[in-house]
Amino acid sequence: MDYKEINFWSEAKLGIIREYATAYSTILSRHEYFTHVYIDAFAGPGLHVSKSTGDFVEGSPLNALNVIPPFAEHHFIDLDNKRVQALEELAGERADVQLYNGDCNDILMQEIFPRLTFKQYRRALCLLDPYGLHLNWEVVKTAAELGTIEIFLNFPIHDINRNVLVKNPADMKPRQIERMDAFWGDNSWRQAAYATEANLFGFEEKVCSNDELAEAYRQRLVDVAGFAHVPKPVLMRNSNRAGLYYLFFASQKPVAKKIVKDIFTKYRPAAERRLF
Ligand SMILES: C[S@@+](CC[C@H](N)C(=O)[O-])C[C@H]1O[C@@H](n2cnc3c(N)ncnc32)[C@H](O)[C@@H]1O
Repeated sequence: MDYKEINFWSEAKLGIIREYATAYSTILSRHEYFTHVYIDAFAGPGLHVSKSTGDFVEGSPLNALNVIPPFAEHHFIDLDNKRVQALEELAGERADVQLYNGDCNDILMQEIFPRLTFKQYRRALCLLDPYGLHLNWEVVKTAAELGTIEIFLNFPIHDINRNVLVKNPADMKPRQIERMDAFWGDNSWRQAAYATEANLFGFEEKVCSNDELAEAYRQRLVDVAGFAHVPKPVLMRNSNRAGLYYLFFASQKPVAKKIVKDIFTKYRPAAERRLF
């Protein structure tokens, strides 16, 4: 497997998820009647190479496998067959790992979420970490409706800025509008993304800031999906301080929000490169 180099912001993301997964598993393990599971929907190959040190870095699935106390089950999905094979080798003989090769939007809805209803006494932490606009809103909404799932979600502002939002909304490409509609759940992102402003020559459409669009999505996670607690996300920036993606967390539990807020506060300087 050709493992990819990752940058400091990915290492910050992995640190955030590792810390919360440990806290989550510790709390859920105290409740004997619950089975708690970890789901990595865009799992990747399980290992990366650190750009700063050249060392191997454990990816999100391997991180989850090393959490103590352990999750009862681990569900890892990737579209790329080679990455799933790499995960299979890393998982070895572990009986608590289930691998899926395919589109996670279908696999979550058809195979995994139906086994996470309230009545089944099962709870899940689910990582939704695509490279771009590859996640469908129905997955997010279903996770909220089930009431048993907490999510970390990558809001891909770089992909959105690069491919969807153009200065004049009339010039947006139909394929990109379709991708954004699928991610947002409808076309209401247009109102959030563009504001009409008066100028000397009449009116012009102005693209909103990254933070404004992310805040509109945060509100949507609460008002439309139905998550009770969605703290302010962490913005991951590259070395030029350009925004790459926002890492969101959403849950029905106030205690979860409190723990994640503290973890976000700890990692925010590293993610935004304010330490250097
Ligand atoms: C950002 S990487 C995941 C990195 C991983 N979370 C980590 O931190 O180690 C995204 C992964 O999603 C996979 N992918 C892309 N579209 C997908 C889809 N529709 N369903 C499942 N996996 C997908 C890609 O093959 C890639 O391995």
